[in-house]
Amino acid sequence: MKKLLSVLMLVCAVFTNARADDNKILVAYFSATGNTKAVASTLATAINADLFEIVPEQPYTSEDLNWQNNQSRTSIEMGDKSSRPAIASKIEDISQYNIVFVGSPIWWGREPSIMDTFIESYDFTGKTIIPFVTSGSSDIGDYGANLQSLTPNVKVLTGKRFPNNVTSEELKTWADEQMQKGL
Ligand SMILES: Cc1cc2nc3c(=O)[nH]c(=O)nc-3n(C[C@H](O)[C@H](O)[C@H](O)COP(=O)(O)O)c2cc1C
Repeated sequence: MKKLLSVLMLVCAVFTNARADDNKILVAYFSATGNTKAVASTLATAINADLFEIVPEQPYTSEDLNWQNNQSRTSIEMGDKSSRPAIASKIEDISQYNIVFVGSPIWWGREPSIMDTFIESYDFTGKTIIPFVTSGSSDIGDYGANLQSLTPNVKVLTGKRFPNNVTSEELKTWADEQMQKGL
């Protein structure tokens, strides 16, 4: 009987830990044309994380994304560091996560303004934020430092830029290394 109880307790402990581990990583992303979305969902599957899409209240049209027009919506937003485009989607319970991967395209060499809205929308105290981006060619640059300045008491890593054809294995290897740094 004693033996059976010990086995049952062990099974319960393993089950509880597995559930706690399963629920602690979030991959949150914004994607206007699908590149970051593809990388984010591959990453989330590779590391068994939850996936959350940052959905703009006002979707970006192709005219909005026209960087050659200095009067387009993105040109105006990105020219104003205080711009905070509204987000329509909401994370139900941020407290369950202790690692949050945050992904988006690079716009004008930095994070799209909607990422600033996102960072300021939640209390990330005690969590680690790990950025990742896609871009035409620009590197991640000051992306992590910019997010850090908006959430000073939180650990924000430098992060990494990925090409659109990055593999699941490459993402997992990178994410595991980052999580070691972050914990
Ligand atoms: C308004 C705007 C500005 C951009 N600025 C840059 C840039 O500075 N450097 C770069 O390499 N790519 C730039 N790009 C290209 C995007 O970063 C790239 O296509 C990215 O993969 C798009 O991601 P998404 O499909 O998830 O929206 C820009 C694209 C847009 C629409």
